[in-house]
Amino acid sequence: MRFFNWDENLATGIPECDLQHKKLINMFNAIYDSIRLNIDKKALKEALDSLIDYFDKHFAFEEKLMEKYQYPEINIHREEHKNFKEALNKILQNPNEEINFLEVLKFFKNWWFNHILTMDKKYGPFLEAKMKK
Ligand SMILES: [Fe+2]
Ligand SMILES: [Fe+2]
Repeated sequence: MRFFNWDENLATGIPECDLQHKKLINMFNAIYDSIRLNIDKKALKEALDSLIDYFDKHFAFEEKLMEKYQYPEINIHREEHKNFKEALNKILQNPNEEINFLEVLKFFKNWWFNHILTMDKKYGPFLEAKMKK
């Protein structure tokens, strides 16, 4: 069973963004498989770091696009990316607790799933119209 499935409901209509979202979903699924296969924690942490790294690039890409086309809700959107990153860092940097990878992955997925449906899908029609011009 896949941890995270892509479906058309998640499409923003901006091809590059959808492509990046699909790549991120594949990365989620790969980490999930690794957890189930019990691979060692160091390798898991590396995979999680790569996922976070690609997320940073993706957030920056979206923000640049919103900036370029003067998307009116860019500030709230940027703020939500930032708040999420802070929450995630807090969980990962807690020195007293060993990382529970499955919990982190679930938290990450839930936030992101909602973010696509509420925030990312909102910029879709706006940017699509602007990019056609
Ligand atoms: Fe996104
Ligand atoms: Fe976003």
